[in-house]
Formats: sequence, C-alpha cells, structure tokens
Amino acid sequence: MNSVIGTSEFLTRSEEETRALGERLGRFLRRGDVVLLSGDLGTGKTCFTQGIARGLGVSVPVNSPSFLIMNEYQGRERLFHVDLYRIEDVEELDELGLWDYAERGVLVIEWPERGADILPGDGLIVELRYGDRERERRFTFVPRGERGRELAAGIAGAP
Ligand SMILES: Nc1ncnc2c1ncn2[C@@H]1O[C@H](COP(=O)(O)OP(=O)(O)OP(=O)(O)O)[C@@H](O)[C@H]1O
Ligand SMILES: [Mg+2]
Repeated sequence: MNSVIGTSEFLTRSEEETRALGERLGRFLRRGDVVLLSGDLGTGKTCFTQGIARGLGVSVPVNSPSFLIMNEYQGRERLFHVDLYRIEDVEELDELGLWDYAERGVLVIEWPERGADILPGDGLIVELRYGDRERERRFTFVPRGERGRELAAGIAGAP
C-alpha cells in the first residue's frame, strides 16, 4: 500500500498503488467537488484519475481525455475528467462551461495551471512529483476551502 510520509503526503511505487490512492479519494467525493491534478507530464494524473473513477463506481475504462478535452463517466456520481493541456487561451475555458459541470458531478482537471485562477469550486489540489526512484511518485494534497480540508482529512484517515 501507499506509504504515508506526512498527513497529506503519500508515496506510491507502481501504477496500481497510484490507482489505489485515487480510489481512496474517489470514495469520499460527491457532487460539486473539484479535484485539480497538477504535475509534470507522465507523473500519473490520468492513472490517479482511473483510481478516482474506481472509487466512484465507474465500471468502464478511463483514458486520457487529451484530444477531447473532456470525458464523462457515470458512476455513483457523474465524473467529468478534463485535460486542459491543449487549451490555448482562457476564453476556450468559458466555452467549455466547466462551472456547470462542477454542479452536476465530480470535476477532475489535469493541467489546471492552463486555467490560471479562474477554476471553480472548493476541493483539493493534488500535486504530483517524480520520486527518487524510477517508479516512485509523490503526492501532496493541498486543500481549497472547507470541503478541501474535509477531503484531505478523509484521505489521510482512511484505511
Ligand atoms: N507510481 C506510479 N504511478 C503512476 N504511474 C506510474 C508510476 N510509476 C510509473 N508510472 C508510469 O508513469 C506514466 C503515468 O502516465 P499518466 O498518463 O498517468 O501521466 P499524466 O500525469 O496523466 O501525464 P500527462 O501530463 O501526459 O497527461 C505511465 O506510463 C505509468 O506506467
Ligand atoms: Mg494525463
């Protein structure tokens, strides 16, 4: 399982451990929650989202939405998986209507940096980094608002 470094820091050593960590978070998520996944190419944002989907009871495979910008899945709650990597200006974000999605389900956003400060909602920022070894990844959970603190506490305390 994942080793706990601190209350909001985790280390994984394989894709499956990353999915298990995402699943742990996914079990706590509910409509209106926003999770921002911030980290370099290949750190595991999509892999972590696959875990979130599992925790939300999504039964179909979750893939990178890179070319579509957004994929939608049905689980216990609806999951909107967004990748802003290819967004070139903030106006495109307006057209995407992210704000509406957040009200209708759980919104998970890769490359939130592309959306600058205009992203909606309370929730969690998950910062992903490469670890010292090849397959290690480090996760830091940064709460946004009251709901973010609840989620961070939940995931830290979950078995
Ligand atoms: N501990 C780990 N957790 C997650 N992925 C890992 C781990 N160790 C190695 N990997 C590899 O790292 C890659 C992670 O890919 P993934 O698509 O999830 O990254 P990403 O952050 O979404 O990238 P992008 O910015 O291109 O969207 C995969 O090739 C996976 O096999
Ligand atoms: Mg990705």
